[in-house]
Amino acid sequence: MLTVLGIETSCDETAAAVVRGRAPGPGEILANVVAGQMAEHRPYGGVVPEIAARAHVEVLDGVIARALADAGVSLGEIDGIAATAGPGLIGGVAVGLTTAKALAIASGKPLIALNHLEAHALTARLTAGVAFPFLLLLVSGGHCQLLVCEGVGAFTRLGTTIDDAAGEAFDKTAKLLGLGFPGGPAIEAAARGGNAKRYRFPRPLLDDDGFDFSFSGLKSAVRRVVEDGDMQDAAVRDVAASFQAAAVEVLVERTRKAMRAVASRGIKRLVVAGGVAANKSLSAGLADAARGDGFELTVPPVALCTDNGAMVAWAGLERLELGMVSGLDFGARARWPLDSARAGIAGAKS
Ligand code: KG4
Ligand code: ZN
Repeated sequence: MLTVLGIETSCDETAAAVVRGRAPGPGEILANVVAGQMAEHRPYGGVVPEIAARAHVEVLDGVIARALADAGVSLGEIDGIAATAGPGLIGGVAVGLTTAKALAIASGKPLIALNHLEAHALTARLTAGVAFPFLLLLVSGGHCQLLVCEGVGAFTRLGTTIDDAAGEAFDKTAKLLGLGFPGGPAIEAAARGGNAKRYRFPRPLLDDDGFDFSFSGLKSAVRRVVEDGDMQDAAVRDVAASFQAAAVEVLVERTRKAMRAVASRGIKRLVVAGGVAANKSLSAGLADAARGDGFELTVPPVALCTDNGAMVAWAGLERLELGMVSGLDFGARARWPLDSARAGIAGAKS
């Protein structure tokens, strides 16, 4: 049984958590503190990197102290200190990683520098003890990828977005519709009262051979409707519903195709991770697809799908158990593909 402190500062959440357990999980979340910065970024309609980094500096110490107090453990009772080391907004990542290094030096505990995407990927083991291997759909504000996860640090990427991430498409569409930030939950709420069949938006790459995603054509189609039309409330709801239907269809159909491709390798588990996994219409579509293809679907609870410290603590715990600790010279990385064998692919976001 290990107890790990996890620190997350790669985007706009300042988060720290304490998790206890052993692989393959489930683990016990002793504390999970998330301080959002929504109010600071809202006037700009998106996350401003400099504002994010400054906000992390201001609140991180307090967030960590709160997590340790909530968990009822001292630094001396912690087995390791994990922090997101990338990919993400470099200023924020540096704040969290440097703080983790300082705590590691002060306490004499090992540092685990983590890939943020691996933390999202392993969340389903923290919450449900999902065994390897599994197919992962990772859908967040910065990422949209299909991966096969065979073990800790063993990922093979099947496909990624060639332009916008899924969450980014929700955020940009919400901005076009004047629905505010963050866009995902706002679009989902607006779509509830809308007619998803009113606009037939494109489904980019749907019939393409590979597993890549593209959302920029969908976003442009929404922009044309918004610029041409008279956007009364009903129209906003209909555009939101029609956009969501298109985005969800693309995500579900690509995932269905990936399930069929990996089934021959004996993989029968599908895991969804990242903030967009909170979308009910997406999880319902994926549940249907998984059922149809005999896959077992795991969607972690919403609070653990969006950025948080518990996923970082858990991934750190799994690495620590395997002796995969990091040197104090580990640097923050703005880009860091999970599947490093495929690093540097032209146009691929990571
Ligand atoms: O994983 P996350 O917290 O941060 C990143 O690592 O990017 O994901 C945030 C993203 C945002 O783009 C947000 O709009 C989206 O997840 N999101 C949603 C929903 N809730 C959050 N997208 C669609 N539907 C939702 N209900
Ligand atoms: Zn994330």
